[in-house]
Amino acid sequence: MTQLTHLFAPIKVGNVELKNRMVMLAIGTGYPEPDGTVGDRFSNFCVERAKGGVGLIITPFAPFDMATSIVPGLFDDRFIPGARRLTDAVHAYGTKIAPQFLGQYFWVNKENGSFEFIAPSAVFNKMIGTTPKALTVEEIHRLVDEYGEAGRRTREAGFDAIELPLGIGYLLNRFISPCTNNRTDEYGGSLENRMRFPLEIIDRIHRQAGEDYPIICRVSAEEYMEGGHTLEDSKKVVSILESAGVQAIDVEAGWHECPVPLVVMSVPRGAFVYLAEEIKKVVNIPVVAAYRINTPELAEEILVQGKADLIGLGRALLADPEFPNKAKEGRGDEIRTCIACSNCLDNLLTAYKSWKALPAFCSINPRAGKEAEYTIEPAKVAKRVFIVGGGPGGMEAARIAALRGHQVTLYEKGEELGGQLRVACLPPYKDELNCLIKSMATQVKKAGVEIRLNAEVTPEMVEKKEPDVVILATG
Ligand SMILES: Cc1cc2nc3c(=O)[nH]c(=O)nc-3n(C[C@H](O)[C@H](O)[C@H](O)COP(=O)(O)O)c2cc1C
Ligand code: SF4
Repeated sequence: MTQLTHLFAPIKVGNVELKNRMVMLAIGTGYPEPDGTVGDRFSNFCVERAKGGVGLIITPFAPFDMATSIVPGLFDDRFIPGARRLTDAVHAYGTKIAPQFLGQYFWVNKENGSFEFIAPSAVFNKMIGTTPKALTVEEIHRLVDEYGEAGRRTREAGFDAIELPLGIGYLLNRFISPCTNNRTDEYGGSLENRMRFPLEIIDRIHRQAGEDYPIICRVSAEEYMEGGHTLEDSKKVVSILESAGVQAIDVEAGWHECPVPLVVMSVPRGAFVYLAEEIKKVVNIPVVAAYRINTPELAEEILVQGKADLIGLGRALLADPEFPNKAKEGRGDEIRTCIACSNCLDNLLTAYKSWKALPAFCSINPRAGKEAEYTIEPAKVAKRVFIVGGGPGGMEAARIAALRGHQVTLYEKGEELGGQLRVACLPPYKDELNCLIKSMATQVKKAGVEIRLNAEVTPEMVEKKEPDVVILATG
């Protein structure tokens, strides 16, 4: 078993100490209340991850009105009470929490109340399939004010830091990148000018939240866009950010619409860690490595090799909020490893096309976003339960029934557990499915389920053995 000493070493981001090196990456969920406030569903989702042991949770909030409840808002004082309840609840588990000031491709124009697509320049946006309007200088100044006010609310709500997203092709990235910024005023042209808007925001947040308030910047170190920033350009960007007082760099890769696959199953685990490694060479502040890191062993290896200071986990914590605690307690084999199917992204990304976002869900963790609904309660009467079929459905039914205290026998006609997943994992690049079989089988065994392989269930056998319940999980 790999020793995970680096993964569980504390670290400081500015003046904030994190208890370990695991950072939950920003994940827009669609779990806020319809009015954009933080309610129980959103809070339960975060608290479950705090309970699971992660060091820092970064979660997106809107710093200005984007007419969406995919993420909660921080663009009005009415958002502070819900956010305060959230930070208190997360802090109870020793986890720190930071809002990501998500500014995507659109806003509600405060001047006239209309919903508009915005950018530095009127350059066609392939992600949303439209040409946005170029923000005026006055509108940029108004946004700087809004980010500053959101910074003040962040501090008042008890958050520990702020993440500013400067990557993946979001609004501020489009200012920084030459491929989408054609401006000829002080916000376009040279790198210094293209960075003016984010730097003004950083300065304003420092003034309104405090000079010492930690700001983490998320940067796409390689944009993989024609005419966009390369790693060498990004090295200059992060050096400027460090000089501006930014306390950590969260390294991501690409843009939503770039031609390079970023997060799907065929992308090798840790494929973009090299970007963090390169960024780390030019700054003296903590660097987060991210994308397709889904095992504690890989996370530890990245830290041991000095390629990054912190490990970003996005979907790994959607799939299994207990990832950190299981790793710490030597129960890594029980981690429900994210298979990178990216179904969790589907509902949210289709919102860019249809403008009807549905809440995120996870293919392998039905409790994601339903933490309060799907609790495992002890059964009032323990029953003898037969489960017919050892595929993912049968294994999950067996695990839950056993955890509730039932006496469970899982029958599988074949010689191994896994069902159709055993076939699904065979094509190239589908090996993550094999990991899912392994982790589900381990969980079933540890839950105390009796497993009968090469065993067919017949009506005669059921009549003879008289179980209380038979669950058919034959697919
Ligand atoms: C459902 C979902 C929503 C996301 N929302 C955001 C977001 O609001 N801001 C952001 O910077 N990244 C967002 N991401 C990207 C993640 O932060 C992360 O970069 C990506 O999932 C790759 O990391 P992973 O392989 O550890 O999941 C989202 C990802 C998912 C799956
Ligand atoms: S839906 Fe798929 S990609 Fe998303 S967290 Fe779950 S397993 Fe991972």
